[in-house]
Amino acid sequence: MKPIKAGLLGFGTIGTGVIKVIQNNAAVIEQRLGRSIQLARVVDLDITTDRGVALETGVLSDDAQGLLNDPEIDVVIELIGGYEPARTFVLQALNNHKHVVTANKALLALHGEELLRAADDNGVTLMFEAAVAGGIPILASIRENLCANQFSGVYGILNGTCNYILTRMTDNEEDFASVLGDAQKLGYAESDPTFDIEGIDTAHKLSILVSMCFGTWIDFDQIYTEGITRISALDIEFASQLGYQVKLLAIGKLDNGSIEARVHPTMVRNNYPMADVSGVFNAIRLNGDFVGPVLLHGGGAGMEATASAVMGDVMHIARSITSGANTFAPSLGYTPVAITRLPVKAMDDLVGRYYLRFIVEDSPGVLAKISTILGDFGISINSMIQPDEMFESDVEGILPIVMMTHEAREKNVRQALEKIEALPIIKEQCLLIRIEDKLD
Ligand code: HSE
Repeated sequence: MKPIKAGLLGFGTIGTGVIKVIQNNAAVIEQRLGRSIQLARVVDLDITTDRGVALETGVLSDDAQGLLNDPEIDVVIELIGGYEPARTFVLQALNNHKHVVTANKALLALHGEELLRAADDNGVTLMFEAAVAGGIPILASIRENLCANQFSGVYGILNGTCNYILTRMTDNEEDFASVLGDAQKLGYAESDPTFDIEGIDTAHKLSILVSMCFGTWIDFDQIYTEGITRISALDIEFASQLGYQVKLLAIGKLDNGSIEARVHPTMVRNNYPMADVSGVFNAIRLNGDFVGPVLLHGGGAGMEATASAVMGDVMHIARSITSGANTFAPSLGYTPVAITRLPVKAMDDLVGRYYLRFIVEDSPGVLAKISTILGDFGISINSMIQPDEMFESDVEGILPIVMMTHEAREKNVRQALEKIEALPIIKEQCLLIRIEDKLD
């Protein structure tokens, strides 16, 4: 049987990994598909750098149009990243009736609806397992193995860079800035780490998970996004004293017909499996009504894990083409007509428990002033720490105070913090970390 022909757009780290999988695992791929996969064209603007993989003469070029218009190519693999020209190329490939595999979460988060409609209109598929949690087969699990379930919640540690930084801050009591510098030197964080540390990369991935779990389109700006830049070694230490780890969590919930979609630092109890996800690893916890809780854990980024996911999609497509039916499971796991646009809950309406950290003047009546304002807004304090030793400040007479609340409404917490911050005894902006108690 003649090979399935693939064209690769983007010969960067992941592209190099894809070529390695195709070359190193050619035999097992053929045993599993009954035919081989031939990388017919590889396109990149840089066609001179040696990436350590050999390509047949004539395969590598800078001619994207040649690839997109080549009638021999069945599947286009888009690994350029970013919005443009990736969006234009993917649309062009779909309109030329080519299947597309991409790892581009930013593109999907902002233009997914347009791209998936184009795939549907052209009778081809768009697959993106590598876009969420790299090598962890989370999208295929939602789309296929778990598709008989209604999901009530999805929780993810989806950014290896942030998880690496938070783990080092926890294990070695290091500061955010110094760990970030090291992560950049080690190649874990980009030279511009904004998308990672500000939670944007995690939110891109959450938008895909929310659509797939709940069958809804969600606009990217409907996802509340807060990164880890304000978390200090002090907060990590307090969290640990209280029996928690701080994780950057993506949270999607279906609650009475509306969606919660948020990314923020979150306190996770030490005895929950998500608390043990350390370093650059990713994990996703799903709640299905019949299967119950499921936790998937593994490599969320990097050349090998991501290339594994890309090639899983390419082989899935190759099998469908080979079967002759040329039909595919819908990309989001719902038939396109069934996908709705559910309302997204405002953050003000969130109800949960909160960690509040204040840096205050050490003077009589400080606690009373803070707790009075919290009480005025109906916020009840569950526990409190006022350390006398662990805080080092250049300024004499300054202390941290930490309070854990009982369940409260976010709007009330924010209004209370605004009032508290206006008090002269408050020396820094207060820090709020949400607590997630339902991750057992
Ligand atoms: N920058 C991401 C991470 C990997 O640190 O997990 C690609 O999404």
